[in-house]
Amino acid sequence: MKIAIIGAGFAGLASAKVLSQFGHEVTVFEKTPDVGGVWSATRRYPGLRTQNNKGTYCYTDFPMPASYPEWPSGEQVQQYLEDYARHFDLNGSIRLNTEVLSAEPKGDEGWRLRLRDVNTGGTMEHEADSLVVANGIFSKPFIPPYEGREAFEAAGGRLCATSDFHDVEEARGKHVLVVGYGKSSCDVAAAVGEVAMSTKVIARELLWKMPRKILNVLNYKYLMLTRMGEGLFPYIEQRGFERFLHGPGKGVRDGMIKSLQSVATRQLKLDKLGLVPEGTFDRIARSTVSLATDTLYRQVEQGRSEVARDCEIVRLGQEGGRPVADLSDGRRVPADIVICGTGFQQVVPFFSDALQQRLTDDEGNFMLYRQIHPLEVPNLFFCGYNSSFYSPLSAEVAALWIAAYLMGDIRLPALEERRAHVRKRLRWMQERTEGKHARGTNIIPFSMHNIDEMLNEMGLNVSAATRFKQWLLPSNAKDYRSVTRGLLKRQRMRSKSAERPAPDLRGRPAA
Ligand SMILES: Cc1cc2nc3c(=O)[nH]c(=O)nc-3n(C[C@H](O)[C@H](O)[C@H](O)COP(=O)(O)OP(=O)(O)OC[C@H]3O[C@@H](n4cnc5c(N)ncnc54)[C@H](O)[C@@H]3O)c2cc1C
Ligand SMILES: NC(=O)c1ccc[n+]([C@@H]2O[C@H](COP(=O)([O-])OP(=O)(O)OC[C@H]3O[C@@H](n4cnc5c(N)ncnc54)[C@H](OP(=O)(O)O)[C@@H]3O)[C@@H](O)[C@H]2O)c1
Repeated sequence: MKIAIIGAGFAGLASAKVLSQFGHEVTVFEKTPDVGGVWSATRRYPGLRTQNNKGTYCYTDFPMPASYPEWPSGEQVQQYLEDYARHFDLNGSIRLNTEVLSAEPKGDEGWRLRLRDVNTGGTMEHEADSLVVANGIFSKPFIPPYEGREAFEAAGGRLCATSDFHDVEEARGKHVLVVGYGKSSCDVAAAVGEVAMSTKVIARELLWKMPRKILNVLNYKYLMLTRMGEGLFPYIEQRGFERFLHGPGKGVRDGMIKSLQSVATRQLKLDKLGLVPEGTFDRIARSTVSLATDTLYRQVEQGRSEVARDCEIVRLGQEGGRPVADLSDGRRVPADIVICGTGFQQVVPFFSDALQQRLTDDEGNFMLYRQIHPLEVPNLFFCGYNSSFYSPLSAEVAALWIAAYLMGDIRLPALEERRAHVRKRLRWMQERTEGKHARGTNIIPFSMHNIDEMLNEMGLNVSAATRFKQWLLPSNAKDYRSVTRGLLKRQRMRSKSAERPAPDLRGRPAA
């Protein structure tokens, strides 16, 4: 098949590699000048590194170099992805600086894409049998529509997203506000805090954060990147040991969560700094489970930065020709730069409104079976819409699921059954996360459940012994090397049996 792929981040590259391994002719369209997506030089903020340790943030058959540290830098991850594209000979299939302006179905026959060369502005067309959307759920930043932005900018103020803030020197000697309390905001605030005249984090709600090293000793991967860590949070359906943890063993489970809460509170000195979030530590899994940016808490303790809690920017503006911001706590503060880590928009602007409506429910949530396959639009797949604790692995397994589907190897439930399944999950996600599920695309913390479900449907899950080991040890990507081999073997067997002449009516092979 001719397959077009939109995006060359982890998900797009995994799709390109897997689908070409299975004999498809792929073309990847990427609007930036480099591969990497989140890790591209065009999007990295100063100090960005992975939350995962390197063994859980890579593809199954391409480990990160031994020379990389436990938590690689943004630059190293981008280099890793370039190396991956070169190693698997993908560069000839990737068209950089090429934006997909529109993609429309040609009846049930495939897709027609309209493309724009970002350098020349020239447009062109491309046709494909199938389309994989891998445009990233954390790719297009959201910036609140602040009143007074024009006057603020006219006075020399800069309003930008964390993903558009690349050079910390820009903040030297300036007054900086960082909006939001997610990982992006806290990281950028910590970087800026080293050089700015003043740094304020404007957090409308504090969140619980996990220290990278618990008690400054134990790598958090042994707690959160294991099946046990995932099992601490109740999944939509519970089986085996999870049933125990959320039934008779609930006391043990609650005790573990409570210990984590008191360790995080003590280690980050949250009490002393007045930064204890509302509710219990359970709420860390409400949205993305982010790691704590230790430096930020140190800077707050030293009085070099401030976290304005339960606070928002009410309006931007100017006073005496200088840019300022009015805060909901009644203060007017100087604000040369306002950097928003206020999340991302999950959008597919290259689809018509009518097509977008067919892909989403009334609330705009993506209605995707297994987070991959739309219910009603044929020849279309999404990769990376199961953002998880192990996004590269989740994306690669999704790409393998697509390959298996195209081989005719996935037996889908009937349409109405799939619709009910997706609706039930979205309802559960909505309740569980208080609406913070990125329109149904962020499955954290249930990464391994999602991987199990895809692999079980393909009949290719890893051995029970490996899964058992993952209860106590981090689920490394390399544990899943065998899946591609298994599926390729199946494809070879199928093509061999297709070549074999059909048996005669008595069941004997034909002469
Ligand atoms: C700052 C940051 C750090 C993160 N760190 C981690 C982490 O440590 N661990 C973890 O598990 N997850 C992490 N995540 C989640 C992260 O989203 C994934 O890990 C992963 O990198 C996403 O890959 P992706 O390919 O799905 O999307 P992206 O990396 O966003 O790639 C999408 C690509 O599509 C391109 N594109 C979009 N629209 C078009 C178009 N119309 N035409 C052409 N190209 C287009 C974009 O330019 C982009 O290159 C992080 C997210 C962010 C924002
Ligand atoms: N590798 C890394 O170190 C790394 C770095 C960055 C990001 N990430 C990952 O990338 C994903 C996105 O993280 P993120 O930090 O960019 O975004 P995020 O987790 O979505 O956090 C957005 C923050 O902005 C706040 N916010 C949203 N809209 C707002 C508004 N209108 N006004 C004021 N505040 C607003 C949110 O507050 P509410 O909670 O009140 O909505 C939240 O604090 C996560 O999965 C994260 O783990 C990883």
